[in-house]
Amino acid sequence: MSQVELFERERATNYNQFVEAWIPNYQYFLDRLPNLLREATSKNLLVVGCGTGNEINRFTQASEHWDITGIDPSPDMLNQAHEKLHAYQNVTLVEGLVSDLDPAQKYGAATLLLVLHFLDDQGNKLSLLKDIAERLEPGALLVMLDITGDKKQIKQNLAILRLLLPNDLDDDQVTNRLNRIENELYPVSETRLADLCLEAGFESPLRFFQSAIYMGWLTRKN
Ligand SMILES: C[S@@+](CC[C@H](N)C(=O)[O-])C[C@H]1O[C@@H](n2cnc3c(N)ncnc32)[C@H](O)[C@@H]1O
Repeated sequence: MSQVELFERERATNYNQFVEAWIPNYQYFLDRLPNLLREATSKNLLVVGCGTGNEINRFTQASEHWDITGIDPSPDMLNQAHEKLHAYQNVTLVEGLVSDLDPAQKYGAATLLLVLHFLDDQGNKLSLLKDIAERLEPGALLVMLDITGDKKQIKQNLAILRLLLPNDLDDDQVTNRLNRIENELYPVSETRLADLCLEAGFESPLRFFQSAIYMGWLTRKN
């Protein structure tokens, strides 16, 4: 089972502008990723749903050397990653799903940023987490950034997000987008996310970051 949230054409082209406006503190989160993963079991990193290469970019600039594999099913997103990253010998970009990667190849750390909330909780979240776990060394770290919370928490944090957005966004577009997040995405509660991690073969995750609806989680493969 492999659900895919399609990011194509304008949605891909406008992606970086979009995250900049809609995810307060996202650049800070990205900047700190190499530090956060300093205790990875090896410097072999898997970037799941790497999109336009925002996370990978930070690891190419890190003081330590990382070997990085980015995987994403969207060619339009990956094209932008290729443009940014083609000069780096230590970056491999793969078009596809984690299940396409050889499970014999193991990674010492992984990132899963802004992907899980697009997948339903009828098996798709769990199968992606299991596919990742299968490709990690024991003790490897996983960082996630995801819209998290029960219905009430999401509603309250969406109201906060509205206050944190740049002032020049169009009001109707903001309302539409907030409605879409509330009604069309698949966030799960903090306890459900912990259960999914445990079932997939990870430790119970630690919430170390929050920016309105977006929560940053750190866990380790058992
Ligand atoms: C919101 S973007 C996040 C991109 C990048 N992680 C970032 O933070 O800038 C979500 C990405 O997940 C990818 N995606 C969708 N379904 C996926 C799946 N089942 N497995 C892995 N990636 C997926 C999309 O193609 C898209 O590039």
